[in-house]
Formats: sequence, structure tokens, C-alpha cells
Amino acid sequence: MTDRVVIFDTTLRDGEQSPGATMTHDEKLEIAEMLDEMGVDIIEAGFPIASEGDFAAVREIAERSKSATICGLARANYKDIDRCWEAVKHAQSPRIHTFIGTSPLHRAIPNLTKDEMAERIHDTVSHARNLCENVQWSPMDATRTEWDYLKRVVEIAINAGATTINIPDTVGYTAPIESADLIRRLVAECEGGQDVIFATHCHNDLGMATANSLAAVEGGARQIECTINGLGERAGNTALEEVVMALRTRSDIMPFHTNVDTTKIMAVSRRVASAAGFPVQFNKAIVGKNAFAHESGIHQDGMLKNRENFEIMKPEDIGLSGTSLPLGKHSGRAALRDKMEKLGYPMEGNQLADLFVRFKDLADRKKEVEDDDLIALMRDEIAEDQNEFMQIKSLKVVCGTEGPQKANLVMVMEGEEREASASGDGPVDATFNAVKALFDHGARLDLYQVHAVTQGTDAQATVSVRMIDEDGRVATGQSADTDTVVASAKAYVNALNRLIARREREGTDAKMVSYKDAG
Ligand code: KIV
Ligand code: ZN
Repeated sequence: MTDRVVIFDTTLRDGEQSPGATMTHDEKLEIAEMLDEMGVDIIEAGFPIASEGDFAAVREIAERSKSATICGLARANYKDIDRCWEAVKHAQSPRIHTFIGTSPLHRAIPNLTKDEMAERIHDTVSHARNLCENVQWSPMDATRTEWDYLKRVVEIAINAGATTINIPDTVGYTAPIESADLIRRLVAECEGGQDVIFATHCHNDLGMATANSLAAVEGGARQIECTINGLGERAGNTALEEVVMALRTRSDIMPFHTNVDTTKIMAVSRRVASAAGFPVQFNKAIVGKNAFAHESGIHQDGMLKNRENFEIMKPEDIGLSGTSLPLGKHSGRAALRDKMEKLGYPMEGNQLADLFVRFKDLADRKKEVEDDDLIALMRDEIAEDQNEFMQIKSLKVVCGTEGPQKANLVMVMEGEEREASASGDGPVDATFNAVKALFDHGARLDLYQVHAVTQGTDAQATVSVRMIDEDGRVATGQSADTDTVVASAKAYVNALNRLIARREREGTDAKMVSYKDAG
């Protein structure tokens, strides 16, 4: 018999809070559905008071939820808590999560004395509990809060009706020994500590989030808060795939289990990476491109003799097909459907037909179409679906050793074709200048990243472009193509479209939406 550890996923709240990781409403719904199907116990779907968009997403995720508990975040005031309840109450199992910063530094922000804060905690947790039976309370920056005060406020929250007490390491400061000890002491010494679930919520600033979370479980925590791919502010949160696979792989020394169907990990990881526009680092544990690649001669030889020589987990355990047979230009629609299903993207009808056309086009240009190529094609299609305001119709670029490079661009903008030419320092710069000539915006380019999806000179490139507008809104666009300049142009336009959509959703005067005729 092993103890059950509850998995609380906060990709859509703490993960989405990461600058540039903003997801659309539909992406959030899709990811929530995948998390629910994967067996995540609790999905923190957002921060309902933060915006109309957040509220609508949490509400719809709650309405559509199947098995998972749906949780919303609220600060320690009645207005936040009421708004949160309005959004989550439609779930078959709702939870309100309310928090306040309790460390000396965080207490100074609302300028409350210790006693005033204690009273606020009592009142707000009681208020939440009057609305909802399932209430989680967090003392933000718990790991830098004085022990006596932490114990006191945890007891107050338990007494006021909190059913889960979450202990956040908000700034990623703790270390495994301390993390285990803190939870052990809280469970043992707090009045009522045995009657609630203690949760651990770690950030990865010192690269210890996974270790700290597992140590907290050792100390008595029975809920781990985490995100897919470790998405989150700064260095991110504890990665769901890491804690789940660590508990599974080392159950000999950590006798705990979760409800997560690990074979769905890879598909969710890919979906979150594309929606958030945060590519997964190649050597990332569990879900990185190289996590199961054994390139060196010694390793390959050892693997052929016995895969356990170098592999502690099987690729199939996380949903990677062990052997990947590439498709080619003679592969048919059935083979594509079968492959997409194996990759975790079952598709039929129009979606399959559209992808098939794009696949054939790629297969004409590239000898072998590999799994990652197909995933990149799919991401591109998703991105194009969102290109409502402007789309690229054609792009011609002149480059060579004699600069400046020139780009001629035709875009469809709100149904009308417009054309512009521009020069620049390199083909990508010229192309971005041509976009700007058609659509004069004040957003600045914050990040431009190119990755080769597969190997070879005919490989597709995926490009990520992050833009920040005049008011600080961040949007990331992505695209893939065998032509790096085309992928760059599409990613740039995708990021601008996302910014426009956000501004429109927020009802902001669209000062960025001023495009002029091509000169
Ligand atoms: O890191 C943190 O402290 C949080 C809280 C809101 C739980 O995300
Ligand atoms: Zn956090």
C-alpha cells in the first residue's frame, strides 16, 4: 500500500502569469480538458478577478469539468472571493483558493500589523468557507515567514474552515531538508494539523523545485502544486512531469502514488509549449527532445544490448512512441491519422483534411516528415486559425552578400490585400520592416528565437517571436516552415494578431491598430 499524493496543476494560473505565456480562451479550455483526462486531481484554472477574460475562462472550464476539482485564486478580500466563487461554482467539484503574503516583507505591502493580518485571514477564510466546502488557504512567502507567526496563521485558517493549507516557497528560497522539516513541524505542531491536507508549492529559482516538493511529501505534504513543463514566473514552478515520474520511478524509496495517466504527459507538454509560446529546452527532464535520446556510441551500444543500461524510464511511459517511423510523400491520409493519434492528437474530418494538405506540401519539399515536423505543422495551423486581423499572402525576399536585403510583402488585412516593400539589415529585418510598413505599431520585439525542428538542411524551422506593446502587454507568436524567413514573418504577424485580439478583448482603444497604405 502506498499513500496517495494529490496533483494540483496551476499551469493555467501561475504558469500563465509568466510574462509572455498568455494563452487564449480556447487554448485554456483545451488544456484544462487534457489535464482532466490525464487524471490531474485539481486544476487551478485562473484568477477570476484579474480580468473579464480570466473570469470567463475559469467559469467555462468549471462548467465543462469532468472528474477534476476546479479551483480559482482570490486575494484576501470579500470581493475577490465572491468573484472567484461566481466562476468556480459551476464545477461538479469547486474549490476557492485564497492567499495573503505573511512574511515580514510581504506583510509590509498591505501595511497590516501581525494582529490585523491574523484577523483578515480569519474573516476571509470564514467567508470563503460559507460559500464553498472546499477552501484552500496559502500564506504567500511561507518559507520566509517567522515560524511562530506561520504556525499562528495556519491554525487560524484551519480554525476558520480551510480544508487544504498550501505552503508556498514563493521565491524559490528553501532547500530539501528545510522543506521536509517545515511541513513535518506544521503537521505535528499546529492544532488541527492532522485534519487538513498540507500542500507544497515551489518555485525553481535555485533549481530545487522538484527536490523541495518531493521532500515536502516526505515531511507529510499530500498535495503537490505544479505546472506542465515547469511553466511559471522567473525560473518557473515545480514541473508536473518531473514529480509524477519521480514518484513512479522511485516508488521503492518514495512509497507514494498519483492518479496521473503518465502516457498523456508528452501530448499535454507539447500543447502547453505551443499555446504558451515557450519551447521546452532540449535537455529538460522527462519532456525535453533529448531526454530519451542516446547519441554517443557507448550509450547506443549499451542500449542495444539492454535498454535498462541507460534508461530508467521507458519512452512509452510518457506517451512517446518507442520507434518513430517517418512519413513520406507516398503516405496516405490513414497513415497520417494513425500517426497523429499515436502522437496524442486524434483528428478527423476537416482538421485531418487540412493537415493532410499541409503534410503533402511539406513532403514535396522534405524527404522524410518526422513526428516533430507534424507537430510543428499542427501548431502552425492553430496559429493561423488565430490570425484574424491580418494574414500573409505572399513574401519575396532578395538577399545576398551585397546588402541591404529587400522584402516584398502582400498581406490580407481585414479582407483587403495590401502590399509593401522594405529593406533591412538581413532578410528577417527587411521582412519585419515590410510588416511595419503595412501595419504601423508601437510594440517592440522582445525575443526572436529560431529552432530547427529536425536535422538536415531541409529541416523545418520553428520561430518564436515575443512582442511587448506600449502598455506592457506581452504576446508570443509561433510558426514553422522549411523557409526560416517565412516562418519568422508568420510568427511576427501571429504575435501582432494576438496583441490586437487582447486589446480588443480588453476594450482598449486600439491605438496600435493603425495601418497605412503601402507607399
Ligand atoms: O508562489 C506563490 O506564493 C503563489 C501563491 C499565490 C500561492 O503562487
Ligand atoms: Zn506561485
